[in-house]
Order: sequence, then structure tokens, then C-alpha cells
Amino acid sequence: MKQLLKKLTETFSPSGYESAIRDVIRAEVTPLADEIRVDALGNLIIRKGQGGKKIMIAAHMDEIGLIASHIDEHGFVRFTTVGGVYPQMLMGARVRFHSGLPGVIYNEPLEKPTDTPAIEKMFIDVGATSRKDCPIKVGEVAAFERPFLDLGDRLVAKSMDDRIGCLVAIETLRALKSTPHEIYFVFTTQEEVGTRGAETSAFGLDPDLGFSLDVTGWGDTPGRKHFDIALGKGPAIKIKDGGMLADPRIIHWMVTTAEKARLPYQREVLLGGTTDARAMQLVRAGVPVGCISIPCRYVHSPSEMVDYNDVQNAVKLATALLSNPVEL
Ligand code: CO
Ligand code: ZN
Repeated sequence: MKQLLKKLTETFSPSGYESAIRDVIRAEVTPLADEIRVDALGNLIIRKGQGGKKIMIAAHMDEIGLIASHIDEHGFVRFTTVGGVYPQMLMGARVRFHSGLPGVIYNEPLEKPTDTPAIEKMFIDVGATSRKDCPIKVGEVAAFERPFLDLGDRLVAKSMDDRIGCLVAIETLRALKSTPHEIYFVFTTQEEVGTRGAETSAFGLDPDLGFSLDVTGWGDTPGRKHFDIALGKGPAIKIKDGGMLADPRIIHWMVTTAEKARLPYQREVLLGGTTDARAMQLVRAGVPVGCISIPCRYVHSPSEMVDYNDVQNAVKLATALLSNPVEL
């Protein structure tokens, strides 16, 4: 599982440019699926089982990134963000463009060395000396360059948000012996720019119920307060986030299943941010949804950290949920 996670997180696929990660996931799920297709927005849709309740499980394939907006006469690349990228994560960072070319980020001089520069004051240096010899064109996308790190129980990578959800979906598909349901695992596109792939795929599938698999925040490092989520205490069952109230029937289904299977879990009320489940909930005439969250430190930095036990328990919880009949 760690080997696959390394491969998933080291693939470069910012929002809108998910073809590389889609190929990696497709190769992994092809032997496990009853049907595979890709829709118009690039969502990878895997069906398992037939005829029962239609359940949609969404994990987003895309990651946050940058996009070149201007090349200056000396060959420095100005950029804007794709999704929630914070400037304090960028000073000295390394990125890789979708084409494979690397670059480093720096900024114009600051008034005080302790200031954080605005994105508009930053640039990517790709080693060019003029606009003419710059290999990057306006509109090319880039993502953080950072190798996967195995600290034993704790695993660190860029794009753990949400390749860890993709991993849980793949491993759940692998673990599912049989199911009374018609399950659609959807590896969605463009979540980081507003849950766009989930919106169209949920409309197309018209599920009876569903949940997303995504990261949530953390409350267990110095100075963090009022958020009861810690790494290693189990996957989190979402109750509320910044964009969604999980359906109480889905929460009940998840809690009772976790308790019956003696799996650790945490109750999540996240103040800001949301997941694909929000788009699923509001599609067509509405869908009962929830979310299984993987607690993750340093979300949207180049070093996002999860606990391996939480990941394994998330797979067990999702597998238990999907193996048995469900009445909401
Ligand atoms: Co995110
Ligand atoms: Zn996410």
C-alpha cells in the first residue's frame, strides 16, 4: 500500500490536468472493476456490483498547483494559483510543470525580511535568461515537487490531499469480496477549484446515496485549538464542514458500522473547507451523503502528513459499509 501511495503522490496532476494520475489509477483498478469509463470532465468512473442501491464514492484525483500567467523579458515565469495555494508555502519551493520541466520559486525583495510576499510578487525561475529561451508558455500548469517520505506510522507527501482518498478507494475496491449494491467509485477532477468533477459525475450517475473520501485538518500540533481531530485515532466521520451538513442517516450508518466492526473513529466538525460530498448532496433533487475523512496535518503544504493506521482503518470502515445492505 505504501508503494502505491508513493506512486500516487509523486504523480503531477493539478486540477484540470488529471490525465497522468488517471492513467496510474486506471492501471490499478482495471483488474478489479466490473466496468470502467471516463466522462466528459475526465472523471474516472468504476462500477462494482449491479442492481442494488446506487452508491457513489468520490475521491479527487487533482492536486493544488500553479499556472504560468506571464513570462518576463528575462525569462522569469509569473504565475497565479490553481486552488488554495498559500504564498508562505512557496518561498524557496520547487515545482514541476506538467511537461516535466522543474523550476524554483522566489520573490521580489521584501520591505521586512519577515514579511510574506503576495503571489503577484513571486516568480518561478526555470533557468532561462530571456523570454525567447524560456521553455514555459503562458497557461502551463505546475505542482509541488517533493518526494514521498515514509516515517513508519506517519507518511508525508505533497498531494496527500487527496491521493490518500484515492488510495483508500482503490484498496476498498480490492478488499470488497461481494456487494449487494451497485457501487460507483468516482475518481473526480477539479475538486480543488470548486468540486466541479463531482458535480457533473453525480448528475450523470444519479446515486441513491454516497460519500466522499478526503482529508480533513488536525488539532494535535503546538498552538492548535478547538478541533478534536488527531492523527492515529482513527478515520473521521464528518458531521459538518464549511460547506455541508452530512445527512444524519449517513452519520448513523457510519457510526454504527464502525462500532459493530470495533474500528476506531473520530467525530468531525470542520470549521472551513469542504469536499466533493457537498456537490453530490446538492445535485439534481438532492442526495443523502456523508464523508469519511483521513486526518491530515499541514494540508495544502508540500509536506502533508497522515497516519498509516488511520488509512488502514478507513479502508476497513469503507469496506464494512459497502459489504452489507443499507437502509437509511
Ligand atoms: Co484540498
Ligand atoms: Zn481534498
